[in-house]
Amino acid sequence: MHLLHIDTSSQIQGSHSRNLSKKIVNKIICDHPDSKVTIRDVGMHVIPHISEATIKAFYQEEATYDEDMAKSSKLSMSLIDEVRQSDVIVLGVPMYNFGVPSTLKAYIDHIARVNHTFKFTAEGPIGLLKDKKVIVAITRGGSYSHSPQNHQDPYLKTLFSFLGLDDVTFFVAERLAMPNFAEHALLDVEKAIERLCITHK
Ligand SMILES: Cc1cc2nc3c(=O)[nH]c(=O)nc-3n(C[C@H](O)[C@H](O)[C@H](O)COP(=O)(O)O)c2cc1C
Repeated sequence: MHLLHIDTSSQIQGSHSRNLSKKIVNKIICDHPDSKVTIRDVGMHVIPHISEATIKAFYQEEATYDEDMAKSSKLSMSLIDEVRQSDVIVLGVPMYNFGVPSTLKAYIDHIARVNHTFKFTAEGPIGLLKDKKVIVAITRGGSYSHSPQNHQDPYLKTLFSFLGLDDVTFFVAERLAMPNFAEHALLDVEKAIERLCITHK
């Protein structure tokens, strides 16, 4: 099993989303010791925002690329190849200002690429990624599970579905900024991760 482990928090020390995503990866490795793990840490090694050259490269023929377009296209394709090669994608994602960290959004803008991870058809857009499980450790300071202000996990569900990935599991630890709740919230999620059972295709 090939795991792609993506961390997105800008915090390194004491990051809850990093701790939980690591626990998910460790649980899968424990169950499948022959697993291979690729780490993509967009919190520590920030992916640049897409540029005009990136967008031109997305929509133009390769024969028309200049140097900037070729460079942008190469970065996007290398990130997409990492995703394609994975069977399971594990992410650690904190809520920042009601949504996902911009580190993750910058990454997403490179991997959501027309004719590579989705395409337009007469019936509308369809996702081109298939047969992957996505598991996300969601963390947040407040309580937003049932709130219309939550643009974190609902956004990720929409995005992954757009790319063809509908097998998405969320482990949600919230109220982490509330001292009376944080410890229990983390323990509950850690117990749920212990029960995680991923089977080979
Ligand atoms: C820049 C920033 C913005 C945040 N915005 C929100 C927010 O909108 N809602 C919320 O519930 N928590 C918010 N938080 C709290 C984090 O989601 C929470 O501390 C989470 O555990 C951070 O993940 P990490 O521990 O992996 O870094 C924010 C934290 C930071 C640093």
